Amino acid sequence: MRNIALIGVMGCGKTEASLLLAYKLKRDVIEIDMNIERHMGMKIKEIFAQYGEKKFRELERDEIRRASRHENVIISTGGGAVLNDEAMTELKKTSTVVFIERDLDEIIRTVDTTTRPLLKDGAQALYDIYAKREVLYRKYADKTIFNEGTLDELVDNIISACKKEEYA
Ligand code: S3P
Repeated sequence: MRNIALIGVMGCGKTEASLLLAYKLKRDVIEIDMNIERHMGMKIKEIFAQYGEKKFRELERDEIRRASRHENVIISTGGGAVLNDEAMTELKKTSTVVFIERDLDEIIRTVDTTTRPLLKDGAQALYDIYAKREVLYRKYADKTIFNEGTLDELVDNIISACKKEEYA
């Protein structure tokens, strides 16, 4: 069965949704950022500080490629996964890619800026990042789901969107 891969900007709900999706569908979950941290033995914030964003993107690309070799899993990506066309092309071969859209003001009210290096200068940076990336999220998305209710509703909406074509 195809994987379900979640994309979307920081704070849109990818991680939480991936865990509940995995639970409801009885599948394993692969969290790309967590795997990068595990392989490097460092926090994302430390990787950015020590090696810079370019190196982080390479690690992210490799981790996405590795995850793409699986089947029947839930993959939660980092917000910048869409910056790498090579990785996204590979991901799309084995995964239905779901873009989780969420109101940016809502994200800013709830996001933890301390663990996210790209938001270190303030949550305002999120608007700039989204303006640059929105086109990419839409380009790679097979499905787009708006996150505006409960986590349970979000996950049920993802499942029914994927079910229509993938599991029927
Ligand atoms: C990033 C998003 C983060 C993490 C890193 C870079 C980005 O993941 O991969 O800080 O470029 O948008 P989340 O989307 O899970 O916060």
